[in-house]
Formats: sequence, structure tokens, C-alpha cells
Amino acid sequence: MTSSSLLPAFLQAVMQGQPRALKDPHYPGWHLAPVTGLMNDPNGFIHFQGEYHLFYQWNPLGCSHQNKSWGHWRSPDLVHWQHAPIALMPGEDYDRSGCYSGSAVDNKGQLTLCYTGNVKFDDGSRTAWQCLAVENAQGGFDKTGPVLALPEGYTGHVRDPKVWQQGDTWYMVLGAQDKHKQGKVLLFHSCNLTDWTLAGEIAGSGLGGLGEAGYMWECPDLFHLDGQDVLIACPQGVAKQEKRFLNTYPAAWLCGTLQAGSATFHHGPLAELDAGFEFYAPQTALAEDGRRLLIGWMGVPDGEEMRQPTIKQGWIHQMTCPRQLSLKQGRLFQQPVTELQMLRETESGWQGQASQAPEIPAERLEILLSRTPGKSATLHFGNDDLVLTWSDGELCLARRSLENGEWQYRYWNAPATGLQILCDHSSVEIFINQGEGVMSSRYFPAQPATLSFSGEAELQARYWSLRACMVE
Ligand code: FRU
Repeated sequence: MTSSSLLPAFLQAVMQGQPRALKDPHYPGWHLAPVTGLMNDPNGFIHFQGEYHLFYQWNPLGCSHQNKSWGHWRSPDLVHWQHAPIALMPGEDYDRSGCYSGSAVDNKGQLTLCYTGNVKFDDGSRTAWQCLAVENAQGGFDKTGPVLALPEGYTGHVRDPKVWQQGDTWYMVLGAQDKHKQGKVLLFHSCNLTDWTLAGEIAGSGLGGLGEAGYMWECPDLFHLDGQDVLIACPQGVAKQEKRFLNTYPAAWLCGTLQAGSATFHHGPLAELDAGFEFYAPQTALAEDGRRLLIGWMGVPDGEEMRQPTIKQGWIHQMTCPRQLSLKQGRLFQQPVTELQMLRETESGWQGQASQAPEIPAERLEILLSRTPGKSATLHFGNDDLVLTWSDGELCLARRSLENGEWQYRYWNAPATGLQILCDHSSVEIFINQGEGVMSSRYFPAQPATLSFSGEAELQARYWSLRACMVE
């Protein structure tokens, strides 16, 4: 189908689906989510001519990973968002199986999208083209076609271009799988965005001392932060450890020094970006004031995603809140952007033994917590739909499997002195020690969510209900 022939069905899906999705008690009140169908990766996150743009992988036609198009939101402040015209739909020969993930750049004042045209063949094989599209006067995007075919030595799994400019040179990192089924991140350069030269593999399985590190690396992003170079990527096939890398696929980061000329990246160990149940494919953008911002998909492909109950209401998945990144002593910190404080309503506070704490409405809530060491405290979200146990050396987040009802656990395996927790109907983001760690998770309470406490630890809490702020 061509882009234009998909449009009537997309429109009908939105008209029919949006009222139902927005009435769902699990639909977020202030996070970004699809008005119908399936949303996954954030794409094209950029601050451009005074506004933030965030695009997203979107299938308006159902809660399945098909018809991947680019939806588009814009915002002056990362809090108030507006719908913009759908930016990309599959349909050309080179993107007929999906307009896959990518990034946005400011090319001499023209907002330009760099995305993967995915092409699947009947025999199960596939190829991929890296493509461009430029903004038109109507706020839509005109495709200008492929600029890069599959590089020699790689399978059809080459995708997710993240492009940036340094001086006069454009750079691109690309997720890839080599012919030996090893996941890699490739670095390219170009002087004009259309002619690209492969500089080399800068990270991946078997490189930089990592050993076996997965069969495919998706959604890379590379940027300078606080004096170092940080590479984010989603390595698929990394071995699970006792308390880390427990999700079907992780999002991870590496920190070091990139020598772009020789395509070498000296880096430290691979670390998880988020220790919760749902977090994948994050993308960053530079704010006007120099902050490095990140938004992730609060979902994970495969695994149990297709068991989520919102599918019955015709929609699935949401984004994380926008976060600000910083590097402190070689560790990557994430904190909710301060703009989110605009959502705070009246402040409340409480102090005492956890078991005496009042129950707090948690549909839309921000809570700051500290705990006196020695005894533990447990936080109960909903009717124990999500349970966080906070003891001296560890945080343990527990949730029942949507598949078989068995308890599953995620861990922050170090002392947690303070927590900042953001709740939104069916999601929780737990920021640990001013952002040294984060646990992002969805949960699906039967009643409007509440937060209650148990345990003997002394707690101190400041909290705010957050006002709803829906996309307009
Ligand atoms: C990550 C991903 C990307 C791909 C996109 C397709 O979630 O698999 O690698 O471009 O989703 O929707």
C-alpha cells in the first residue's frame, strides 16, 4: 500500500479509537501515549526553532508491530504537547514494510528526518535503507528517498540512524548485526547528509573488551556529556544476570572517549540505563540551554507486552517522562526535567513510621521520600499490583507476571538514600539517589491507584498530586 492509500484507514482508526482510549482509566494523564493503536520508540527528538519535536513509532491500525509510521507531537516546554500532522507512513518501495526509527536534524534551517526504510521479503529475509524526509509548508514531511543501502558485511538488520553535526561534518550511528550475528554500532560520516562513508564499528559484541554482548544492537545514540562521550544502545541477546539485565531486552550505556577520525571508542563496562520492568529505545536531544534530555519508550518488545489489558481498549504503551542526563564520577544520572514541576498541585508532607503512613491517591502523584537506615519499608501501589521493598542495601520491585501470575522482581542493588517517584494512572518512575538509578514500570490497578506503606522504617515524605495535562 502507498502512504496515501493508508491514510483513510488511519483516520478512521483515530476517529473511532481515540474516545475509547482516552476514557480508559489506565490511560496516562500527563505522559505521552498513542490515541489509538500501538506506539513504541521515540523518534526525531529535537529542539528546533524554539520548539521541541517528538516523533514516535506508531501503528494506528491496531496493537501489533505493523504499519510502522511516524506520529508527531510538538511542545514549547516539554509539558504541554500538541498533535502535529503524521510525518511518515510506509508505502514507497524502499520503506514498504515500515518507516522505522531514526532522528531529526536542523539542516540549514530545514527540519530533516533520518529514518530506516524497512523492506521484508516473502522468504522471511529483509533489507533496510537509511532515508531522508524534509518538512514542508504544511508541517508534513516530503520523503526524499534513500541515502544509504545495506553496508557490506551486515545482515538486513541495520537500522535506527541517529545523526548529528559537528563543525561541517555530519555523523551517524547505526544499529547493526554483522554476518556472524554479532550486534554492532556503526559510525558513518558525511559532508552533505546524502553521501555517507562508513568509518567503522565503534562498539558492540566482541569489541572494546565487552565479550559476547548480543546479536543485534538497536537504537544507538551518541553524545558528549560532562566531558565524556556516552553511547546509548539496546543490545539484544545480552545474558541475564542474577539481579541485572533481567528484561527481555535492555537499554544500556557506555561511557568513554570517541576518536571519530579513527572510529575508535575507548569505553568502560556496559551498564543498564533503567532497572525497572519497562524501558527501551531511549533517545536524547539537546535543549537550547545545553541540557541533554532523554525520553524512553516505557515498554519492551516481545516478552509480555501483548498481555497488557489496555489492548482491549485499543491502545498500548506510553513514553517515559522527559529526563535530564548528567555524568557524575563516571555514572549516568537521570532526573525528571524541572519543567514537570508545572504539574504540581498543593504540597503535602508526612513523617513517621511507614506502617502509620496515610494512604495517598496515586493516579497522578509526585512523592519525595527519605528513610532512616536500619529498618525496611514497603510501598504498595494499587492493591499490591506493584510492590517496592526498600531496605538498607537494596530496592526490590515486584510485580505479578501477566502471563502466569507468578511474582517477578527487579532490583537496584545498592543503598538508596532518597527516592523521587512519579505516578501516572498505570505507570511508575522511581528515581533513586537524585537520579543515580531509575526503575520505570507499568502496572494495571483495578481501582484508581493508591500508594500505601508498611514496615518499621522511619519515613519522611513530601508529595504533590499532579494535574492532568493531555495532548491537544
Ligand atoms: C526498537 C525497534 C527499532 C526499529 C523499531 C521498529 O524497538 O525494533 O530497532 O526501528 O523498533 O518499530
